[in-house]
Amino acid sequence: MPANKQILLDNRPQAEASAGNFKLVSAETPALKDGEVLVRHHFLSLDPYMRGRMNDAKSYAAPQPVGQVMQGGTVGEVVESRTPKYQAGDKVVGMGGWQEYSVVSADQPGALRKVDTTHVPLSHYLGAVGMPGVTAWYGLVKIIEPKAGQTVVVSAASGAVGSALGALAKARGCRAVGIAGGPDKCRYVTEELGFDACVDYKQHADAHSLSKALKEACPDGVHGYFENVGGMVMDAVMLRMNAFGRIALCGMIAGYDGKPIPMAYPQLILTNRLLVQGFIVSEHMDVWPQALQELGTLVGTGKLRPRESVAQGIESAPEAFLGMLKGRNFGKQLVKLI
Ligand SMILES: NC(=O)c1ccc[n+]([C@@H]2O[C@H](COP(=O)([O-])OP(=O)(O)OC[C@H]3O[C@@H](n4cnc5c(N)ncnc54)[C@H](OP(=O)(O)O)[C@@H]3O)[C@@H](O)[C@H]2O)c1
Repeated sequence: MPANKQILLDNRPQAEASAGNFKLVSAETPALKDGEVLVRHHFLSLDPYMRGRMNDAKSYAAPQPVGQVMQGGTVGEVVESRTPKYQAGDKVVGMGGWQEYSVVSADQPGALRKVDTTHVPLSHYLGAVGMPGVTAWYGLVKIIEPKAGQTVVVSAASGAVGSALGALAKARGCRAVGIAGGPDKCRYVTEELGFDACVDYKQHADAHSLSKALKEACPDGVHGYFENVGGMVMDAVMLRMNAFGRIALCGMIAGYDGKPIPMAYPQLILTNRLLVQGFIVSEHMDVWPQALQELGTLVGTGKLRPRESVAQGIESAPEAFLGMLKGRNFGKQLVKLI
């Protein structure tokens, strides 16, 4: 069996996460038992939620155990199988973790899913046609529920979730407005992703200044807001929300490394009668097939052209992950393992 390089959580961050929290090791891959498959990972997904799990804190999911392989989504190829359910060569998506190979029991529900790479590249099953895409779909379709002609705003618009949100909103006849960091990301959001406008939050020192820029981008106000960031960006959008506006609270990455991100204008929830709904995509498995079907079609037909930031080799995973938490990624952050 092949040697397997792995990244473990070595210790928990005290404040900002650092490379010293992780440890690279090499382990023997165990021999397969009946019912198991050996998967060689082609790509590892790096996602913001992993930062929360590095803490030993009360949350919707158990913390990442110290001394164990970092958990995470992977796509790859079955290289050996001791079950009729999978054959060598099958392309699969699973939760293989930060390592080059995983041994998976085929009977474990939801552990592995075969994917078709005829029209959709394998890596996109970790992004637009995977968990981040379904996240955008759920927040838009089930929480914001926009009508054609309404304005939908999303923060971190060039990222894995934000880019899918834009395509899904445009498909429903909405005005899609992004917020992103820097001119290159904003250009990509409008020119390649087809958003109607994008506001560069880095050009604004405070929420009022950003809010003024949003007023121009959203002449009819904001009907729906898909929140990925929190802090100043959320304050600015709150100031532009229409009465009975709906906010899908998906993420608050500005606070993941322990910085407080107070909300400046909570009274607007009352005066504008806003609906604010947090959600966790893994708690809504019932919508995944429908969402994946729409997302696969958008990618397959070129209506959603997701961008990827690809780091090379398992050794690069910690730095790529820390960079993503600071916005150094441009699109879905992946690690290529072969
Ligand atoms: N609720 C759920 O079930 C669920 C599922 C998946 C993801 N999420 C959330 O969705 C959000 C987006 O995830 P993603 O995978 O698509 O990541 P991503 O957008 O591809 O990458 C993260 C991006 O966040 C942006 N960002 C904005 N403000 C930031 C700040 N103060 N500090 C650091 N980064 C900042 C950066 O883009 P800029 O350069 O444009 O700032 C960065 O590129 C995250 O909040 C994540 O936790 C939630």
